[in-house]
Amino acid sequence: MASDNVSVFREGLLAGQVGLVTGGGSGIGLGISELLAALGMHVVIASRKPEHFEAARERIAAAGGAVSSVALDVRDQARVREVVDGVTQQHGRLDLLVNNAAGNFYAPSATLSPNAWKAVVEIDLYGTFHCSQAVYPAMKAQGGGRIVSTSMTLHYRGWPQMAHATAAKAGVDALTRTLAVEWAPERIRVNAIAPGPIPTEGVRKAFTPPAESGIPDRFAVADQQMDAYAQQRIPLGRWGTPRDIANMVAYLASPAGDWITGSIFVIDGGEWLARQ
Ligand code: COA
Repeated sequence: MASDNVSVFREGLLAGQVGLVTGGGSGIGLGISELLAALGMHVVIASRKPEHFEAARERIAAAGGAVSSVALDVRDQARVREVVDGVTQQHGRLDLLVNNAAGNFYAPSATLSPNAWKAVVEIDLYGTFHCSQAVYPAMKAQGGGRIVSTSMTLHYRGWPQMAHATAAKAGVDALTRTLAVEWAPERIRVNAIAPGPIPTEGVRKAFTPPAESGIPDRFAVADQQMDAYAQQRIPLGRWGTPRDIANMVAYLASPAGDWITGSIFVIDGGEWLARQ
């Protein structure tokens, strides 16, 4: 059973804090934004797509959360600085950065275009660095802060057709460890999370037979195939939820995360260890 409707965190745990969540308007990022806001943090959602962040902002505000949003492509270093400066000026502080924005797609390495490689590496790795570097002055000035970056587990072994993303996320892991040590004197804790399989729209699509297949209830077929996948491939027997991932971010943002830095937390129901 997923923990989506159970909170182990006390009400108001993150009250008074301000957090910036990149890619915070959909999928795992939205789950993170929602939980942080529910715990009292003012969450700033940064996303490339207004249709994502506007809907997310309304949803969080309707649930009583303090939330704002801003358009941001993390590849644009000047814009990242502008956004971070704007947030710190407006709120007077910045306690948490969640580097969640990511992009990837399956593509054979032999034919990957330079621009395709660049797009993913720039979002996943450069974007993480741009944002981390941009929050440093404010976090240093206020005596500390937290950075949580989203990694993955695919680079722990070979993962065909994901050269760009696996290389970038390996870089995110290295960056996490290095910044953790380099910025510990400023009391900036730098950690990463490595989510396992979460049934996003893209995953569901991959399990759904195409419309042309003529299968009458192809969505029921997708559900069955996804259940079978969870039983066979995920040791804990179920798919993850954005909330499974968000719980770790909330923990790291809380006082419980005070002595944790340079760690990469795999949250995947045991999936990668059992991977064939
Ligand atoms: N296979 C091969 N190449 C691909 C591709 C695919 N499935 N998807 C995109 N590319 C290539 C494009 O052809 C382009 O290269 P080119 O200029 O040589 O043709 C390059 O990648 C950039 O693509 P583009 O869509 O213009 O870039 P973007 O900056 O707008 O967006 C992504 C980049 C990665 C975000 C985008 O491809 C995307 O939306 N991916 C799927 C969604 C996603 O990643 N969600 C997050 C999941 S963690």
